Amino acid sequence: MNILAELQNRFRASLAGIGDDPTELVAMVRPSQDPKFGDYQANFAMPLGKRLGRPPRDVAAEIVAKLSVDDFCDPPQVEGPGFINLRLKTSWLAAAVERALASDRLGIEPAAVPRTYVVDYSAPNVAKPMHVGHIRSTVIGDSLKRTLRFLGHRVIADNHIGDWGTQFGMIIYGYKHFLDRAAYQSKAVEELGRLYRLVNRLVGYHEGQETLPKLREQLSAQRAEVAKAAKTPPLGDKGADKNAAKALRRAESISKELASSLAALETSLAEVDRDPALSALARRHPEIARAVLAETAKLHQGDPENLRLWREFLPPCLADIERIYLRLGVTFDYTLGESFYHDRLESVVDDLLRSGIARVSDGAACVFLAGQTTPLIIRKQDGAFLYGTTDLATIEYRVQTWSPDAILYVVDHRQSLHFEQLFAAARAWGYKDLELQHISFGTVLGDDGRPFKTRSGDTVGLGGLLDEAVRRAHQVVSQGDDAKPGGAEISPERRQQIAEVVGIGALKYADLAQNRTSDYMFSYDRMLAMNGNTATYMQYAYARVLSIFSKGEVDAGALRASGAGVDLAHPVERALALSLLQFSEALDQAVAEYRPNFLTAYLFEVANRYSSFFEQCPVLKAPSEASRASRLLLCDLTARTLRQGLELLGIQVVDKM
Ligand code: ARG
Repeated sequence: MNILAELQNRFRASLAGIGDDPTELVAMVRPSQDPKFGDYQANFAMPLGKRLGRPPRDVAAEIVAKLSVDDFCDPPQVEGPGFINLRLKTSWLAAAVERALASDRLGIEPAAVPRTYVVDYSAPNVAKPMHVGHIRSTVIGDSLKRTLRFLGHRVIADNHIGDWGTQFGMIIYGYKHFLDRAAYQSKAVEELGRLYRLVNRLVGYHEGQETLPKLREQLSAQRAEVAKAAKTPPLGDKGADKNAAKALRRAESISKELASSLAALETSLAEVDRDPALSALARRHPEIARAVLAETAKLHQGDPENLRLWREFLPPCLADIERIYLRLGVTFDYTLGESFYHDRLESVVDDLLRSGIARVSDGAACVFLAGQTTPLIIRKQDGAFLYGTTDLATIEYRVQTWSPDAILYVVDHRQSLHFEQLFAAARAWGYKDLELQHISFGTVLGDDGRPFKTRSGDTVGLGGLLDEAVRRAHQVVSQGDDAKPGGAEISPERRQQIAEVVGIGALKYADLAQNRTSDYMFSYDRMLAMNGNTATYMQYAYARVLSIFSKGEVDAGALRASGAGVDLAHPVERALALSLLQFSEALDQAVAEYRPNFLTAYLFEVANRYSSFFEQCPVLKAPSEASRASRLLLCDLTARTLRQGLELLGIQVVDKM
């Protein structure tokens, strides 16, 4: 049972007839920050009293008189200016723990009204190496899928891979001009990756040559503006001078940014110029940018040679991504990439034009949206379709195929505008009752506060990232094991397996524990810390609980079946029990806002309360047989809650660390 939701319902009933819509008031019932004020607290009597023009304490007393919670709470207390404090009956808590212990689902009820969700996550552009940016979408999406499914919803996990974009034009061009056949035969994906990077670089070189003079001009114009602003004598008016100073600082910062882009461009051009082989290639392929677009267009038009190459390239690229998913333990129900929708795009555009939702402007088919300055372009002047066209076709297909209640797009925040436009266009197209959500997330930063890159300035490949996390986890595990009082206990092979679980768990947890909308700073040391809000700490807590059972030679299943009861005599036992029973609240909250960090925060709290319990309440040496059994039951529910919670984050546990 979700205790908070139950209390809110009870309050809703007691508020009937007092004031208007109680939703806002009921939202002010919350878990207490301090056990002094009970387990839950309702703080709405103050604003309500104000609204009614009555003393809040009187209002609180009136509501409490009507409130019926005595089946699971002690009599509510009105304190201070009108706080209503609620304390759960300890006997009820103990019985609820017993019920949770007896249930496979730890007492979590499935959703009363199951919904159908399509979760669109991971979605890398294939044939480009996967990098650190892809981990967030993959891990957040996977966790939402697991959690929604656990709560009884129907979830369709659909990997909308980018398998039809310009990167294929690049690779096709590279294949036709720069292929190292032997390398391709032995390691296809690596050779394709090399071709992609090479062509991308050459395209970048020529485009850079074109922008260089423009950028230089912009910079000198900006510098002139700065100089002019700096020379302007003060006006003597405080406000105006302040504004002038502000404008100067702004101009300076723009000029600084331009200078640094220019410097970066000059460096990258100079790198090519300095490399005789590369600069010779650049000279021999001056039209490469246009040629790449032409190869892409030919592919889209069904050119047999390009289509054949595309069909040849795709499988090894997908197999490469699949290896990463396998290691991450991430699966999808469907992988319907952009190419799948190709044949549907024309009819989408026709339909939107026919119904007047789109119209042709400057030769391009556009959906103009209320409140948006730029339209969503669905067909370019040259007849090419765009990302948004595919996304509209995808919505149509998903609705026809699965009739979802909601589609969640787990995609980084830089695509916010795209999704705003897409959702508005979809609603205009008639998808009004469909919940469309951009589950946006921030950037992964290095410790310098800039987007996470390798030392050489490349984005970090996902495979290498996993290897490094596992390597470091191996050190952590080995050090811990070597330091055990009775000597090391874990075999080398087992250490390697544990390192995989700990390393990958750490990586995932570090990501999921963030407020997803902020950027976060990547740090192996922090994510593998034995103490703190990390998977490692949680996995360690789990293994510690299990070790009690093995040390005491207790079989948890048999104990549960023995009819032993739970007794919450000590305050830390009670606090742990309350935490364990709040699992349902944490899950509902995580799903309501599509934020897995509510779940990580919850598990951290459970682990902390367990730790206080463990320090203060001897388990195997408990004062009586009954208390020993009761404490073991609390240990058992703790372990199962941690394991279940981590599983919903896509993180495994080990029985020994
Ligand atoms: N492939 C895209 C990218 O890497 C993400 C696709 C997200 N899903 C979608 N339906 N647009 O940027």
